[in-house]
Amino acid sequence: MKDYTNSEELTKQFNELFPAGHSNLNMSLEATEHRLFIDHVEKAHVFDVDGNEYIEYNGAMGPMFLGHKNEEFMESVKTFLDKHATVYGSSLLYTEEDIKLAQKIVEHVPCAEQVKFCLSGSEAVQMAIRIARAYTGRNRIIRFGMHYHGWLDNVINSVVKEDVATAETPTAGEMLKTDTHYCEGMSPWQQEESFVLPWNDFEVLESVIEKHHNEIAMMHFEAIICNTLCLSPKPGFLEKIRELCDKYDIVMSMDEVITGWRLGLGGAQGYLGVVPDICTMAKAIAGGYPFSCIAGKKKYMSTLKNKQILTAGTFNGYALGVHASLKNIELLEANAGAVYKQVEAVQNRLMTGYVELAEKYGIDLRITYAPGIFFVLFGAKGGITPAYTMDNLEGINRPFINQFRKEMQEEGVLTMPNMRTYISGSHTIEDAEFTLKVADKALARMLNN
Ligand SMILES: Cc1ncc(COP(=O)(O)O)c(C=O)c1O
Repeated sequence: MKDYTNSEELTKQFNELFPAGHSNLNMSLEATEHRLFIDHVEKAHVFDVDGNEYIEYNGAMGPMFLGHKNEEFMESVKTFLDKHATVYGSSLLYTEEDIKLAQKIVEHVPCAEQVKFCLSGSEAVQMAIRIARAYTGRNRIIRFGMHYHGWLDNVINSVVKEDVATAETPTAGEMLKTDTHYCEGMSPWQQEESFVLPWNDFEVLESVIEKHHNEIAMMHFEAIICNTLCLSPKPGFLEKIRELCDKYDIVMSMDEVITGWRLGLGGAQGYLGVVPDICTMAKAIAGGYPFSCIAGKKKYMSTLKNKQILTAGTFNGYALGVHASLKNIELLEANAGAVYKQVEAVQNRLMTGYVELAEKYGIDLRITYAPGIFFVLFGAKGGITPAYTMDNLEGINRPFINQFRKEMQEEGVLTMPNMRTYISGSHTIEDAEFTLKVADKALARMLNN
């Protein structure tokens, strides 16, 4: 057992001061039993205050795609700060980099003709909702079960009603206390704002739209549900959303908060080839700085001005965030996308290595993935194959996965719940080999006990 004495002591102090941590999304702490306090980081390796070293695959839940302490990135930020303030005032003073960054986004993201900057993914989603409502003059949002779009009232509940196919109004269902996103203190009216439909169900989608299109302002979704085991869209599902949005003038809004820059500089829309009207991007777009963005076709984005949509924010487009975001793109573009190739090589080695280990130990394993992110789902069959619904993942053994994750931590590898694994540009093939050795040991301990 690793020595966690200092982290344990700090955990006591922390818990006295913070009733619920920082981001207290019902993210289980059972792998650590206490909070880990970090002393420093070197590339993909973090060192805690007890001197334990770990390869980390948390990626800060998405932002650290470029990798920790990229030297060129850090140098560029330092040079910028020698000359500039961190923020100049979002409606008063600008730097030329605002324009350069917007031009880069327009160049790379298929739907982008105009952009708007803000700070978090949650904020970008709220702006997208305002744009859609102002553009269409309608109120309801179509979202999908198991999708996450931030912690605010109008998007947090993604429970599909049991009778969704026949319900007169298929608004969000009741959240149960056991739901990951269960939350008290929400507006009692939040459920009315959205229709929440089952992901990948063509029939329900078509029938709800046929019946209610006059009420629907937008459809907002992650193209691959990175927050839920990377469930992919069934072939044709995104195209069906596109078709229905076109037919009824509904705003098609792709949530690229995780997928933006991670799946490529064109995001999920570039990777999958289906272009929305607007999209929301955050996390990986600024090399680890808080920064988010809405981008989209002029027809929709111009609503911000034409319809006087208030999207204020003191730090919107703050100079340091713009600089970080611009430098991040330049580094991701560099050497013909070398960072993406590195991420792909490490990811492939890890995914095939896990499958080989599952074969060695005679256990079922399914790996679901998108570029730069994957889940290691012991108990489900199928190897490295996309899954579309939870039915495809029958047998998934969550207690086993959680135990595996704990064992991995003991050996110096950190991943997220459900073995969600984020790869960054600072992971190396050596890191992958070390991780697989640790996984081998962990499985041997678990299965031979
Ligand atoms: C797909 C998606 N949308 C929106 C959000 C909200 O972003 P933020 O946590 O930056 O507010 C998240 C956060 O995890 C997300 O994964």
